[in-house]
Amino acid sequence: MHRRITGTLVIATHNPGKLVEMRELLAPHGVEAVSAGELGLGEPDETGDTFRANARIKAVAAAKAALLPAFADDSGLAVDALDGAPGVLSARWAGPNKDFLAAMARIERLLQERGATQPSQRRAHFVSALCVAWPDDHVEEVEAIAEGTLVWPPRGTAGFGYDPAFLPEGHRRTFGEMTSIEKHGLPPLGLGLSHRARAFVKLAEICLDQR
Ligand code: IMP
Repeated sequence: MHRRITGTLVIATHNPGKLVEMRELLAPHGVEAVSAGELGLGEPDETGDTFRANARIKAVAAAKAALLPAFADDSGLAVDALDGAPGVLSARWAGPNKDFLAAMARIERLLQERGATQPSQRRAHFVSALCVAWPDDHVEEVEAIAEGTLVWPPRGTAGFGYDPAFLPEGHRRTFGEMTSIEKHGLPPLGLGLSHRARAFVKLAEICLDQR
């Protein structure tokens, strides 16, 4: 049986950008959100080797510490020709200075070394894993992807991370050339394209009241 989210939900992130986005997604469902940072909760090590495992580590740690249901996400980019790299290491490939141009250049170098010049050889997908954990160990988990190809050089200045190198399937503009409403927004205003938007729709279906 799926469990519905009621009352206060802890958002298990210390990333201000993610917090804003998650609050926006949750507000229409009447869920009051408080962040792990606001509660002074620590950040667990992300030791999982899948997105799903890391989302669960973060949600369970926050739920146990706050004694409230907690919501966490984990996400990243998986490149087919690189056997899914950078995957759960997507943030780490950018280094301590969060240099995503360098991370995109590293991927491009590896693709060139493999002779991956055609779009069909440059397929990649973003993954978003979401987990809601309750203090009694119940968890609800969903995962979604956004498929596309990698372009070089990167295009656009919108978004974050690997957005400028990612051309979503069926589109002519990269995520870096789209507004955030186009990328993450749900229809009718947005295109509901991003992995995070798709995962959130799945979570809303099983855990949130539709208003
Ligand atoms: P997380 O905070 O552990 O989920 O790290 C996810 C990393 O994956 C981010 O630092 C970005 O590099 C990358 N990533 C995840 N989602 C996106 C996206 O929508 N656009 C661009 N990069 C993303």
